[in-house]
Amino acid sequence: MPRPAQTVAWTARPGPFMLRAQREFGDAFTLRIGTEPPWVMLAHPDAVREVFTGDPALLHAGKANVILRPFLGRASVLLLDGAEHLRQRKLLLPAFHGARMAGYRDMVAHIARDHIATWPRGEPLSLAPRMQAITLDVVLRVIFGMQEGVRSGELRERLRRMMERIMGTPSLLAMVAAGPDRIERAGIYKPALRPVDALLYEQIRERRAAPGDDVLSLLLDARHEDGSPMSDQELRDELVTLLAAGHETTATALCWTAERLVRMPGGWAALQQGGEQYAEAAGKEALRLRPVLPVVVRHLQAPMTIAGLDLPAGTVVAPSIYLVHRRGEIYPEPARFRPERFLTQPASPASRGGEGPQSGTYTWIPFGGGVRRCLGAAFALMELRVVLAELGRELDAAAVDPAPEATRRRTITMVPARGAEVVLS
Ligand code: HEM
Repeated sequence: MPRPAQTVAWTARPGPFMLRAQREFGDAFTLRIGTEPPWVMLAHPDAVREVFTGDPALLHAGKANVILRPFLGRASVLLLDGAEHLRQRKLLLPAFHGARMAGYRDMVAHIARDHIATWPRGEPLSLAPRMQAITLDVVLRVIFGMQEGVRSGELRERLRRMMERIMGTPSLLAMVAAGPDRIERAGIYKPALRPVDALLYEQIRERRAAPGDDVLSLLLDARHEDGSPMSDQELRDELVTLLAAGHETTATALCWTAERLVRMPGGWAALQQGGEQYAEAAGKEALRLRPVLPVVVRHLQAPMTIAGLDLPAGTVVAPSIYLVHRRGEIYPEPARFRPERFLTQPASPASRGGEGPQSGTYTWIPFGGGVRRCLGAAFALMELRVVLAELGRELDAAAVDPAPEATRRRTITMVPARGAEVVLS
């Protein structure tokens, strides 16, 4: 296909486009998208393993996100590569360790219950904005350590305005066209960022004076290898990064799980009876069938051989989460939503850092892998488990329209087209 046609197909419907290419060309094929270098898509878990366990000095991921630098800031772990990336990642990792997440369970359940109590019953509604409100509150309380109060209400409002301004399509197009350097020099986003940053710096000062058990307080204790603490700028950049990486992604996974469960015969009843164990299995199955991010990308810094292919420097290799998750030999009847697949697993492989149905096999990779694996994976799975179980406990839910919701692109995440429409009772 000509490049413009590939660009349109990739942008509009990446999943079906990848499936079609795989059928025609096999488990490795090249896409030509926009002004990007060639993307070599990889659909086999063995090839994906080669990428995720390959030398991070040669496989850069930060480059792909550089467009977000004016917003996330230069210290953001999402933007760095090589030694700098590992240094920053090490500072954040302990705060997101699986074992720590259990301690946040009650706080998340409490937030979910407060929100659910206000939702209308007996009329069609979209879960998407409501799930986003929950996941935003979770970030503000668990990560930023904000108590319910004036500052937290004000920050929520300022964040909403900032996201509208920066994450809107015109702004994204401008970012792509102008590039991060020019945007930073011109200070275009400063007016949108300043009100948010001011509250974040206030919060950092307050937590430094009176630490709590939130992630920010842990980061204030973290030390670089030379013994120095993180600067206020670094803390600000990582807080914004965690918010950007953790809030809509988790809300989207919650929406897809609900969207699938209400269309599965007996699905909602199983959630109601199965509690958190079933909730986790359903969340994992939704992340398999409707991964929030369909691919991750790595830019080759030197020629490499991957999956037996000699690839030149500059190539982008793209482990396809979507295609790996639809392999029939791993997941029989791959297009069917069957949470039971994840019920027979030992308690919680992914939350212990494993990679899915069979640990170490790279067959379940909604959080990517290797040194770039999602820092918030255990956090997100805890949140899915707890919020879904609360939903099941409090409510009955039914689909408004029995037809499945289409998948729509929202910047880089893949969301249900009608925002997971349900009637609650
Ligand atoms: C269901 C929800 C989520 C999904 C599907 C998801 C998915 C991902 C994926 C695919 C990556 C890239 C991995 C790679 O390139 O190999 C990633 C990275 C990341 N995620 Fe998540 N994520 C979720 C929730 C969260 C949460 C809740 C947080 C934080 C609170 C978070 C923080 C991050 C960070 C900081 C990175 C960058 C890691 C690095 O570059 O070293 N994510 N996530």
